[in-house]
Amino acid sequence: MLITFEGPDGSGKTTQIQKLKQKLESLGYRVLVTREPGGTPMAEQIRELLLEKREEQVFGETEMFLYAGARSQHARVVIQPALEQGYVVLSDRYIDSSLIYQGVGRGLGIELVRLVNEAAIGGLWPQRTYLLDIGDNEARTRMRGRAGEPDRLELENAAFHQSIREGYLALQRREPERMRLIDASRAPELVEEEIWEDMVDLMAERKAPL
Ligand code: TYD
Repeated sequence: MLITFEGPDGSGKTTQIQKLKQKLESLGYRVLVTREPGGTPMAEQIRELLLEKREEQVFGETEMFLYAGARSQHARVVIQPALEQGYVVLSDRYIDSSLIYQGVGRGLGIELVRLVNEAAIGGLWPQRTYLLDIGDNEARTRMRGRAGEPDRLELENAAFHQSIREGYLALQRREPERMRLIDASRAPELVEEEIWEDMVDLMAERKAPL
């Protein structure tokens, strides 16, 4: 089963993924945690290309193809084989990040980005996606505690981040079955609990009892 986590930087994706991993493992599931862009050596190199600050203008289309290229490797080299071996795969970002950051944030349109990315993932859609929704100010406050310089996308302005948030929310309304809206401004324990309750239901539906 492939479960993905989406939302802005600072929404707590990494923490929630670790919590879910621990819970699943304590019940005997084998869990693989991975992230995008990245997840394979080649995809990690593409990640570096994408996140580096540079003088040269980077066009939305260029970003779209690079993210999709990294994803194609990630889906085929890492995710598909892990699923075949019975792992639950938890990915920090996946196809929806491109639909929203490139489709909405860069204005390429979700339909074009979806077409390109469907080719990249070859049918490997997540069974569940948790959208960790949080306001820009709050996400930034949380990120201030982090080490390191902001990357190229983190340096985008408030209007960009607002369009990302709205894009995600609109996508969630279109795909409420797969994508679950989680209010990530609450205490991490509450977020964790809500995700877990949903996971229990999902496993029951799929006859993979917890
Ligand atoms: P991110 O998960 O934020 O890495 P880090 O936690 O190290 O900051 O991902 C890096 C950035 O890439 C993030 O700002 C969102 C962006 N992104 C896209 O624009 N499109 C994509 O398809 C993906 C996967 C990420």
